[in-house]
Amino acid sequence: MKIHDFISKKQAGQKISMITCYDYSFAQVINETDIDCVLVGDSAAMVMHGHSSTLPVNTNIMALHTAAVVRGASKKFIIGDMPFISYRKSLSESVTAAGKLMKAGAHAVKLEGAKGNLELVRHLVDSGIPVMGHLGLTPQSVNQLGGFKVQGKLEKEQEEIFQQALDLEKAGCFSLVLECVPASLGKKISQALEIPTIGIGAGVDCDGQVLVLQDMLGMNTKFKPKFLRTYLDGFNSLRKAFNQYHQDVVGKSFPNKDESY
Ligand code: KIV
Repeated sequence: MKIHDFISKKQAGQKISMITCYDYSFAQVINETDIDCVLVGDSAAMVMHGHSSTLPVNTNIMALHTAAVVRGASKKFIIGDMPFISYRKSLSESVTAAGKLMKAGAHAVKLEGAKGNLELVRHLVDSGIPVMGHLGLTPQSVNQLGGFKVQGKLEKEQEEIFQQALDLEKAGCFSLVLECVPASLGKKISQALEIPTIGIGAGVDCDGQVLVLQDMLGMNTKFKPKFLRTYLDGFNSLRKAFNQYHQDVVGKSFPNKDESY
């Protein structure tokens, strides 16, 4: 998938599949799948580093994750997530942060919110950096939002998110993540925009879907939001494998003759 395929897929009525990834091993697997594109999300802070929000990661950490994914998934379109506050200080520092992700091999960057970001989006796009927007539940604003909650429940909030979506498209975004908004709002925005929307908890009418890799593989048995579909009982499958290895070691069945020099 290349940048222009985002819009052509939407025009052809073809859905876009996106998954997050943060490391080389999983990137190698994703590279051999039909998944359209990969987001090196700042959710790395939570699923890779064990933090309770996405706030602690910085641009250098995101660039390291991005570079690892790029090495593993050479056939995929890769979006690097701009971390908390990295694009809110000055235009110059924001461009430097975006540049670091692009130099790590990303094909595009993603940033959260529209308010105060439109000039930056225009500048990045004019500088040759494709930008994906992100509206609805924007996890970097978790402290302002009062938690990881569905956004746009009230009509006034829906109007605001809708307007922000139009503003981001006008500023030059090539695609837009919609996170945890009512399905009706996901549909309305998707119908109004020319660029594709990629939903997570935003209903089936978005032009594509994204899930966090560890969540869809069932790695966190306690995380069960309504929008999540799991495709593997990853936590228990891996636990079983690790325990089997332990048994083989203590029972002296590993290594056997064929596994020895
Ligand atoms: O960081 C991330 O994983 C994201 C997705 C949830 C869209 O932004």
